[in-house]
Amino acid sequence: MTSAGNSKEVKKDEIAELARRRGFLWQAFEIYGGAAGFYDYGPLGARLKRRIEEEWRDFYTREGFYEIETTNIAPREIFESSGHLESFADQAVVCNHCKNFFRVAEGVKVSENCPECGGELEAAGEFNLMFQTRIGVPKGESDSGVKKSEGYLRPETAQGIFLNFQRLLRFNRDKLPFGIIQIGKAYRNEISPRKSLIRLREFTMAEAEVFVDPKEKNNHPRFEDVKDRMLRIVPGEDEGGEEEEESLEEAVRSGIIANEYLGYHIAKVDEFLERIGIPRAKVRFRQHLREEMAHYATDCWDAEFLSERYGWMEIVGVADRGDYDLSAHASFSNADMSVHTEPEKIIPHVIEPSYGIDRIIYALLESSFYEEQVGKEKRKVLRLKSEITPIKAAVFPLLNRDELKKKAREVFQKLRDASIFVEYDDSGSIGRRYRRQDEIGTPYCITIDYETLEDNTVTIRERDTMKQVRVPIAEVKDVLLKRE
Ligand code: ATP
Ligand code: GLY
Repeated sequence: MTSAGNSKEVKKDEIAELARRRGFLWQAFEIYGGAAGFYDYGPLGARLKRRIEEEWRDFYTREGFYEIETTNIAPREIFESSGHLESFADQAVVCNHCKNFFRVAEGVKVSENCPECGGELEAAGEFNLMFQTRIGVPKGESDSGVKKSEGYLRPETAQGIFLNFQRLLRFNRDKLPFGIIQIGKAYRNEISPRKSLIRLREFTMAEAEVFVDPKEKNNHPRFEDVKDRMLRIVPGEDEGGEEEEESLEEAVRSGIIANEYLGYHIAKVDEFLERIGIPRAKVRFRQHLREEMAHYATDCWDAEFLSERYGWMEIVGVADRGDYDLSAHASFSNADMSVHTEPEKIIPHVIEPSYGIDRIIYALLESSFYEEQVGKEKRKVLRLKSEITPIKAAVFPLLNRDELKKKAREVFQKLRDASIFVEYDDSGSIGRRYRRQDEIGTPYCITIDYETLEDNTVTIRERDTMKQVRVPIAEVKDVLLKRE
């Protein structure tokens, strides 16, 4: 494998161009000039995204977690209680010259010059990141003068799970621990969304909320299964902040990772990222510094991906939210969020892995793309795992002849009927057809030739090695479905 060659710039443009040209990702509202922070997924992008979400759902369902689906819009009081109205804000600076705003958290400071035009920057205050909306007709005001109709788009899916806690506890037969998952859109009015899928104003989160008795946080029933996993970790300021490689068990026993539940879920994030094909060498876990920590968190670790374009960037956050959310909703709503655990009543703690699916897609596209010289040509490949590629296999007639096309269509239909997502293509030379499939990550190309008509065998070409094997049609399905 040869890498993208001379410069990072080339690679970044290649990926963006490929994503656009092949129908992974398009600027939203393109015909009206677009809007920063909004992207649409095209046919291949939408399939890739669904398959990652399916893998994620399957992964956490195997943990015994149930999925729920809650609303995207909620009345103001929800976010008053959760602390988001007061605390979910970023500091901004504005350029005197070009009037662009920048988010201070991204390293731009008042003392520096504008990254766009070199002009002078000045402090522009704090901006709450939630999108406000109206629920129904704006009629009347509450005692505090707040419009009853005021609503917000959720900045995280988690609140919907906390709000249903009593019902979920009952569903779980009043017993702890249990975990609930949700995949859905979240909305944040980011100050300066200039980084494609990394900083969107509308994006997809996949979150798990694990409710546990605080006395049991150091007693995860399956800690044994993951304790030997080696992790690359960067502890926060109290632990010296030096990057190190340690087993999960060492990190928890030495107190760097605060408890078994948090540790278990950090290991699970690491396992999931590996499972979908993010290279382990490009993943580390970094503990938040105190000033970075969200208002609800007592401890937080980011799974970071080493991007060639952006450096280390967060793709998943794993937080210990303590009893912050349940206690807040209990006191604002008067609902009882406690659980009877002999001999007392407790408010459960929450451990939360929070995945950004769009950033994961970016990480996958960037890390799986490569180019290599094959003869006179450059072959571009997305080396995605076959479990998540948009298309499982392409079916080709070797030549544009009716008898080959007829047979190829039959094979194509047979695979589609078996719920395998295959594509049929008879346009252009076989070489061009292979190249197109390489570029979109299709792991297998099935070719129907004259031998097929005689003995019902086809060739299967494998994307990464370009090797071809001959296989009876009856066995094709098994080859495509094997998990690597
Ligand atoms: P950052 O510090 O980069 O703004 P964050 O700490 O606000 O991220 P979290 O609140 O922990 O992010 O959100 C959980 C996950 O949601 C992140 O790990 C990330 O993958 C994703 N995410 C957060 N904000 C965005 C965004 N604006 N666009 C795309 N994904 C996002
Ligand atoms: N639910 C995690 C977050 O919003 O950061």
